[in-house]
Amino acid sequence: MSPSTARTIAVIGATGQQGGSVVDALLERGGVTVRALIRDPHGGKSLALAARGVELVPGDLTTPETVDAVFTGAEAAFAMTTMAGPGGTDLEITTGKAVADAAKRTNLPHLVFSSVGGAERRTGIAHFESKRRVEQHIESLGIHATFVRPVFFMENLLRMGVSVQDGTIVVREPLPDGIPLQMVAVRDIGRVATSILLGGTTVEGKSVEIAGDELTGSQIAAAFGAAVGLPSRYEALPLEALARMGDAATMFEWFSKLPAYQADFEATRQLDPEVLDLKAWIAHIGWTTGN
Ligand SMILES: NC(=O)c1ccc[n+]([C@@H]2O[C@H](COP(=O)([O-])OP(=O)(O)OC[C@H]3O[C@@H](n4cnc5c(N)ncnc54)[C@H](OP(=O)(O)O)[C@@H]3O)[C@@H](O)[C@H]2O)c1
Repeated sequence: MSPSTARTIAVIGATGQQGGSVVDALLERGGVTVRALIRDPHGGKSLALAARGVELVPGDLTTPETVDAVFTGAEAAFAMTTMAGPGGTDLEITTGKAVADAAKRTNLPHLVFSSVGGAERRTGIAHFESKRRVEQHIESLGIHATFVRPVFFMENLLRMGVSVQDGTIVVREPLPDGIPLQMVAVRDIGRVATSILLGGTTVEGKSVEIAGDELTGSQIAAAFGAAVGLPSRYEALPLEALARMGDAATMFEWFSKLPAYQADFEATRQLDPEVLDLKAWIAHIGWTTGN
């Protein structure tokens, strides 16, 4: 198939976690041209994408017309937004609306927007509400769209609180023990989104909250401990530990009052039959106490 006749799927955020996982899954499935909107075409991550055959389109979500170029002629697109950076959730809403407007202008046949689990349930968490605002804008434009709503990323656990102390794995999160937390591997966001992007799923045009596991603090610690043959313990931190982390404290408070996330585990498995639970994800990334 020549590049001009190949099916083209556009990806926003390809240099990041979620978009990167979509690129990985699309390339693994094959048969499509992957086209990515890239802020820095000369950056290491961009060059690595190009080396894997990804078509790079320079642009920025803050310059909306550049999004048209990545969507034009694509049969579907994956998009995510972020509240990271000085623009916060206001910029997240602006850039999310820019994505939707570009999809409308270019008659994009199908937009898969990665939002967050619970976005539609009035959580009061600023970076969940911002994603709902983007979803509402997409809905208001009448775009053919599917909302993928991922829960807590398993990757966060490594950043936030797995350590080894005196030969014991210690996991610390600002969540009381005994409260199950739903979680998903970023890899599986890409695999779920790819199934939807390639068409023929029952969730197309609707929304799906996705997860691969649901575990309490002690169970999370036990999974890490078992992976390296060490005992484990969980320590619940006070919410004040997050006082300087924006709306993270509001989010963990929401996690602590069930039901919080309400993922559809069966739908997730249908879209991604090899979806990882925490134990499988720890093995998948080859986690050891040294990394
Ligand atoms: N962590 C969780 O548990 C969790 C759960 C559910 C949902 N989420 C949501 O996931 C989102 C973060 O996703 P992620 O982890 O994939 O983010 P990430 O790894 O930080 O990647 C962000 C991507 O967006 C691109 N980007 C940012 N601003 C842009 C702009 N103005 N124009 C074009 N591209 C731009 C970045 O490009 P550059 O490389 O140029 O910077 C990068 O590719 C957040 O909204 C968060 O709320 C997180």
